[in-house]
Amino acid sequence: MKILIAYYSKTGTTKKLAEILSDKLDADIEELEDKKKRSGILGWILGGRDGMRKIPTEIGKIKHDLSKYDLVIIGGPLWGFNSVAPAARTFLTQNISKIKKVAFFMTRGGGKPSTAALVDLKDISSGKAVDDTLDLRESELNSVISREKIEAFIQLLKKIK
Ligand SMILES: Cc1cc2nc3c(=O)[nH]c(=O)nc-3n(C[C@H](O)[C@H](O)[C@H](O)COP(=O)(O)O)c2cc1C
Repeated sequence: MKILIAYYSKTGTTKKLAEILSDKLDADIEELEDKKKRSGILGWILGGRDGMRKIPTEIGKIKHDLSKYDLVIIGGPLWGFNSVAPAARTFLTQNISKIKKVAFFMTRGGGKPSTAALVDLKDISSGKAVDDTLDLRESELNSVISREKIEAFIQLLKKIK
């Protein structure tokens, strides 16, 4: 199965997870670029607002041909309690017609996994989303819990035909 991992990461946590998944699944990798300036406190505040309101953003040109992949795994950080960061959400909305199957992973700073964010992603996936998702708190990334969660996610994805 040919797999592409497309991810957005502002501070490197989702990037680290994307690289682990790409290594273990022998998948190609596409880093998504958010063209909107999101530095400093204002960037954080407006980023949270854009996440919460699900405001799309401008993303950089995609390098891979999405139609060549059996599965695209999209990852990003949780922003604004109920959404993945705008670059990952925008990538999905703009490209779902070219994607055969899609899965999701998300990282977050604290709290509980955001069911709302995952439901939102599935809602815009035109029935192409697989049920299995991976959600990690950033502080868990190097822990045994995370290794187990990552391994379980990988095993589930490997069963997809
Ligand atoms: C603009 C912004 C909004 C965020 N909102 C949330 C949030 O609602 N809940 C949460 O648990 N973490 C939130 N975070 C923290 C990130 O989800 C978390 O640090 C994530 O692992 C960072 O991933 P990255 O390093 O790949 O960017 C937010 C971070 C930013 C920059």
